[in-house]
Amino acid sequence: MSALENMQAVLADANWLKQEVGHHMFHPMADPKDTVANPPPIIARGDGAYVTDLDGRRMLDCQGGLWCVNAGYGRDEIVDAITAQLKELPYYNLFPGAANAPAIRLAAKLCELTEHEDMARVLFSSGGSDATETAFKMARQYWKLVGEPERVKFISLRGGYHGLHFGGMSACGGDAWRRSYEPLVPGFFNVESPNLYRPPFEGVDPETLADMCAHLLEREIQFQVPDTVAAVIAEPIQGAGGVNVPPANYWPKLREICDRYGVLLIADEVITGLGRSGELFGVRNWGVKPDIMCMAKGITSGYIPLGATLLNERVASAWEAEGPRSVVMHGYTYSGHPVGCAAGLAAIDLVIQENLTANAADVGAHLLAGLRSLMDRHEAIGDVRGKGLMIAVELVKDRATKEPFTPLDSYPGKVSDACLANGVMLRTIVNKFIISPPLILTKEQADTIVAVLDHALASTPR
Ligand SMILES: Cc1ncc(COP(=O)(O)O)c(C=O)c1O
Repeated sequence: MSALENMQAVLADANWLKQEVGHHMFHPMADPKDTVANPPPIIARGDGAYVTDLDGRRMLDCQGGLWCVNAGYGRDEIVDAITAQLKELPYYNLFPGAANAPAIRLAAKLCELTEHEDMARVLFSSGGSDATETAFKMARQYWKLVGEPERVKFISLRGGYHGLHFGGMSACGGDAWRRSYEPLVPGFFNVESPNLYRPPFEGVDPETLADMCAHLLEREIQFQVPDTVAAVIAEPIQGAGGVNVPPANYWPKLREICDRYGVLLIADEVITGLGRSGELFGVRNWGVKPDIMCMAKGITSGYIPLGATLLNERVASAWEAEGPRSVVMHGYTYSGHPVGCAAGLAAIDLVIQENLTANAADVGAHLLAGLRSLMDRHEAIGDVRGKGLMIAVELVKDRATKEPFTPLDSYPGKVSDACLANGVMLRTIVNKFIISPPLILTKEQADTIVAVLDHALASTPR
């Protein structure tokens, strides 16, 4: 094929892809009609903190893939680890009768990194929804093993997101994620969380709000009858619910209440795990040790699917006690996939060696301050919040009343399109721009995000 013919073939393929997007594939969390009417950019390549689409537009990836490409794109260290593992052993299971080296190494590594939290065992899976599902099942089995089989209920928070398998979805604290697939799994209950921008109780300071919400949780545990409650699950910082950073006294209160009633505390670290919040693990922002930690996303920097559920010494020891056999009757074909685990080892090494956690804290604070400064010029910004490199900019129709834009309003989409046209790719969730770029982001790149959003807000009519 000549160079010209080659170029024509590439162009023809690109045109076909653009026609085809949304026609044979459902996109998660999208109305298929919207995907056809307004096709998304087709991302073709990535380098550093940038992605490039089929038309050659290079954009700062403020989505970080989907909160996950922590080490950035084009990292040979991860690619080489994956390639070497594929050549050596592309797959082997961890079911009885076999093991594989990358899984053994990564489990040991994760326990070493979470030594402070007393994590002792890891059960691998393929992603975040698997990791939370595994947490729920391990929690229930734990209680059966220690002789309290009636502890089967879970309590979660409004605004929380825990993936979309049936258990995780039932723990999700927003109707949008649940209503099309109801009825939910029995035994899941939900209480108010200390959302500082849209608080469930008006006129109280953040600490009091956290106390009040913690009190509601305690009342729910009492109402359910404590010895029927298996665990409380929460994100150290809510992500998909709009990047809600709780007041500093909230998580310690959660721990205190769980301890008072013997209830397990599950930290869903699928977003916050491995550096994004400016601490290696989100719970370290709050000085709290959970009983179970769920991880995915950043664990492989998103290069390949992997989930992990970590159990602390207290929980794990239930399977080690003398007595009747206690089989972990849970797991997946891809639990401990050697390629995923090899990727995990390489990606975690990068986060640690390059101190990307500290970079997330430093550049995140700089970006947050820059975005907050836009509030002086743009009435449409109701709130800017976040920690590390997980930030939300919330748009409102009226700053005084906080009336949000709805899915029927085109303004937020137009602003984000204007950003895209200027090389910054945000994620828009109705009236919120979510900014969760790779943790390698520089301060200059952060300034670009602020400048581009500033220009987009100034040039987009409401
Ligand atoms: C906190 C949290 N838990 C669980 C999940 C589910 O992960 P996955 O989409 O990999 O199943 C997500 C995904 O965004 C998440 O943010």
